[in-house]
Amino acid sequence: MAIRKIRISTDEVLRKICKPVKEINDHLLTLLDDMADTMYEANGVGLAAPQVGVLKRVVVIDIGEGLLELINPVILEQKGTQIDYEGCLSVPNASGRVERPSYVKVEAMNRKGETIIVEGEELMAVALCHELDHLDGILYIDKVLPDEEETEEV
Ligand code: NI
Repeated sequence: MAIRKIRISTDEVLRKICKPVKEINDHLLTLLDDMADTMYEANGVGLAAPQVGVLKRVVVIDIGEGLLELINPVILEQKGTQIDYEGCLSVPNASGRVERPSYVKVEAMNRKGETIIVEGEELMAVALCHELDHLDGILYIDKVLPDEEETEEV
């Protein structure tokens, strides 16, 4: 259990492609524990391994529905679109509008090495897409849409 240092957006490690996890060992379990600790300490809803300087395909997510640990996650299916504001622990004090699918289905491995399927809509779909992007060196700031003019819906 340890808090790791969160890398900030200018750090080159955030732009690398992460490698798949080949073996679930103590080292990986410690990484998962530390990533959850680090995410909760920073009040985030998700964290990807490169954000703590580790180039492995591992993410943790908790949007308030419990901790999700995903090893080697891949998107199997996506539907629809949604646009909402996103932030990132690696881009402090900023947010921007990003278009994401409104539904995603992700396959991953859990810490026991079991294959799991996670489906997400709304914030969970955003969190899954945002964290999986990190594994390919993509930050939400790469995808930000121009700010919408204030419009009143009648
Ligand atoms: Ni992020």
